[in-house]
Amino acid sequence: MIGVYDSGIGGLSVWKELYAIMPEQDYVYVADSAHCPYGDKSPEYIMERAETITRFMIGKGTEIVVVACNTATAAAISFLRSRFSIPFVGMEPAVKPAVNISETGVIGVLATSNTFKGRLYHDTVMRCASGVKLVEIVGAGLVEAVENGEIPHDLIRKYVDEMLSEGADTIVLGCTHFPFLEDAIAEYAGPSIKIINPAPAVARQAMKILDKCGKPDRKNAAPELMFYSTGNPEILRTTVASIVTPMPPSSFIHLNC
Ligand code: DGL
Repeated sequence: MIGVYDSGIGGLSVWKELYAIMPEQDYVYVADSAHCPYGDKSPEYIMERAETITRFMIGKGTEIVVVACNTATAAAISFLRSRFSIPFVGMEPAVKPAVNISETGVIGVLATSNTFKGRLYHDTVMRCASGVKLVEIVGAGLVEAVENGEIPHDLIRKYVDEMLSEGADTIVLGCTHFPFLEDAIAEYAGPSIKIINPAPAVARQAMKILDKCGKPDRKNAAPELMFYSTGNPEILRTTVASIVTPMPPSSFIHLNC
């Protein structure tokens, strides 16, 4: 059982990649939509939510947790690793791959304010981004729009313009909600701008860890797919149906925690 969680539906952009490469595994996904967004909450609050959700997922049989949220990874992954003995995979701000492909040496990073404040982002920048210019844009309002099933064109145009006017030729999606806006971001950015979504790399990393721990061979079993939301689980159903067709048998349940 692979546990995946996010402040809301954004982590489904990571679950989609996990499911694409490991469709035989069981999954429990938790969208903490009643407490979304995490972007402006205190680290203590995000750690408390992380612990509660992890306990719930372990209770369901989870053996590995993918923290499919940049903000929660920044605030809580070290804490989770110190609290629980199962492996945790977090989101990496994809600055390194961006540095490798940028030709102008100017990279736009779109994330939440908490992700930018986190040590993980700071360390990644120190390690990988010497000699490049990072244009850091807090995508205020984007997470809420995705949760409401909206594409906020004006905000997207504004943030893309801010990055491009500084000379960025590469945009890093530093929040798992943003791949749901990727088409609109690409439309405003134009075809010469490269967009990096770290979700496929994170899914491969989770698979590597599972392979190392001896991933069960589930070829003949029907996988169990459970999607929980502390808010309204219907948006999970709509989103899962839009990213995996045909939608596999799944349950969508409200979670009170
Ligand atoms: N999907 C979360 C992330 O990757 C959104 C954070 C939020 O809830 O503000 O950062």
